[in-house]
Amino acid sequence: MVLSTKSNHVSLKGFDKIKYELNKYHAERYWGIFVAVLLIWFWILGYPWMPPVAFDSALLQSQNIHTVGVTAGQWYWMLDDRGSYQNANDTNVNTNNNQLYVKAGETVKFIARSIDVNHGFGVLSSSNQMDVPLFQMQVVPGFDNIFYYTFKKPGIYTIRCLEYCGWNHPYMVSSITIHAA
Ligand code: CUA
Repeated sequence: MVLSTKSNHVSLKGFDKIKYELNKYHAERYWGIFVAVLLIWFWILGYPWMPPVAFDSALLQSQNIHTVGVTAGQWYWMLDDRGSYQNANDTNVNTNNNQLYVKAGETVKFIARSIDVNHGFGVLSSSNQMDVPLFQMQVVPGFDNIFYYTFKKPGIYTIRCLEYCGWNHPYMVSSITIHAA
């Protein structure tokens, strides 16, 4: 009885090694196909979120885009209004958040720049500081980080940093007010 495991082991000696290898090979092949199909499925699911696809409708009517500049730094957000036209240049920058007048239904082009490290420009679904994000974009220093978004409902939306950027990161909070159309 004590040796039962050993005797089991011995009986395994008689197994068909070729059949075992073949089964193993089949299992690995099915696993490989399963993973490949899963990855393709994820790609299809994520396709509408790809920037060239997601921003397509906004880019088709680019004259109606409200450009908002976003400056990220440790540890604050600064929003500036660059006017209603995509080609508005930086000379008319107004750095007072209160002067930002964004209306519901208009497409906003956020151009975010970081003055120091990576930040995550996250706009939450409401003024609740723990609400779920509506969208988020990485703000990588040295680049114009661009995101198009159309707010459907007026209200105050919390802006939070969603990329760890130093000890005060959790308090890198601001907000954007969307006015009724
Ligand atoms: Cu900025 Cu975290």
